[in-house]
Amino acid sequence: MSVINHGGRGQQIDPDLLDFSANINPIGVPLELKRKISANLNQLIYYPDPDYCGLRKQIAAAYKLDFKNIWVGNGSVSLIYEAVRVLNVRTALVFAPTFGEYEAAMRKMEIDIRTFQLNKQQSFQYNADEIISYLKQNSDIDFVCLCNPNNPTGSMINTNAIRMIVNYCNANHIWLMLDEAFNDFLLEDRQTFSFEQDIRPQDKVIIIKSLTKFYAIPGIRLGIAVCPSADLVTRLKERMEPWSVNTFAALIDENIINDSDYKQATAEWLKTEKGYLERELSKIRDINFYSSQVNFYLLKSPRMDLAKKLMRRKVLVRDCSNFRMLDSSYIRIAVRSHRENEVLIKSLKQILESSL
Ligand SMILES: Cc1ncc(COP(=O)(O)O)c(C=O)c1O
Repeated sequence: MSVINHGGRGQQIDPDLLDFSANINPIGVPLELKRKISANLNQLIYYPDPDYCGLRKQIAAAYKLDFKNIWVGNGSVSLIYEAVRVLNVRTALVFAPTFGEYEAAMRKMEIDIRTFQLNKQQSFQYNADEIISYLKQNSDIDFVCLCNPNNPTGSMINTNAIRMIVNYCNANHIWLMLDEAFNDFLLEDRQTFSFEQDIRPQDKVIIIKSLTKFYAIPGIRLGIAVCPSADLVTRLKERMEPWSVNTFAALIDENIINDSDYKQATAEWLKTEKGYLERELSKIRDINFYSSQVNFYLLKSPRMDLAKKLMRRKVLVRDCSNFRMLDSSYIRIAVRSHRENEVLIKSLKQILESSL
């Protein structure tokens, strides 16, 4: 049975699969966005505004930022690839384990990659002092990618600790890319961990945000870069291909981003289902899960074939063997609807209990 390296295509491959491999909000596309897309089908014959002024103003209003500091991309991955190019990175630091596209982007540019292994015994948590002392010892590093909350571990670093790293980076000509793709799932806590309100014009920081996961739009995708200056926005814009954000994604506005009913429904679902999953996972002797405040968990079991065995029961999870430091004894599961979560728990119990 094949291992799927990227989540998100389960149900397209087999409609009967329950897909825990992609961390997409199961509440689905916000109703107002669906309505806007239906009402704007006639716009498909036009190119979107290549400067995306309207979209950037809406995003700026939603996140209380200046639109001059915002650029947009066809998903956040396109902005990650572009940031690496625009910033002329030579030697980069990535953490392990983390989202694989940072290294993929750098390999395309033949950038020298250093890896900082997050400590397994400390549940892969970030530690600002250790990061700064690593940077001191490796003074050729000119770019750091930090995923916060981290995919797949759920590790987080708060804005005070980020400020310490940013100050070191500013003084040492290092750019810091903060990937906040999952930050919206922190809901009320998001400001404690998002650096978007703390970024200053002199900071060497680029924040990458994604609306894909929280607003359940992997079919149209929208990525946001929050830059310290309008100058970096111009450089990104000039390097990227024009019209990279499609007409439907460009319909997203402040009301959709700040839709309080949608956020409330997400908050209720997430709280209830995280409570359920954590209670049930704790009862399974051969499963350990890493603490997470977002919509996925990294799980560890003694079995190397758990993803394959789950797949035989039509439950698709993310086999983590292609993440640095991890192997097939680690899987990542998304938090899904209650019915789906029950099937996952039942399947895990059956597989692990039958192997005793
Ligand atoms: C940490 C992280 N950042 C960015 C992305 C890419 O999201 P987008 O669809 O906005 O390109 C992903 C997708 O899995 C991710 O896990």
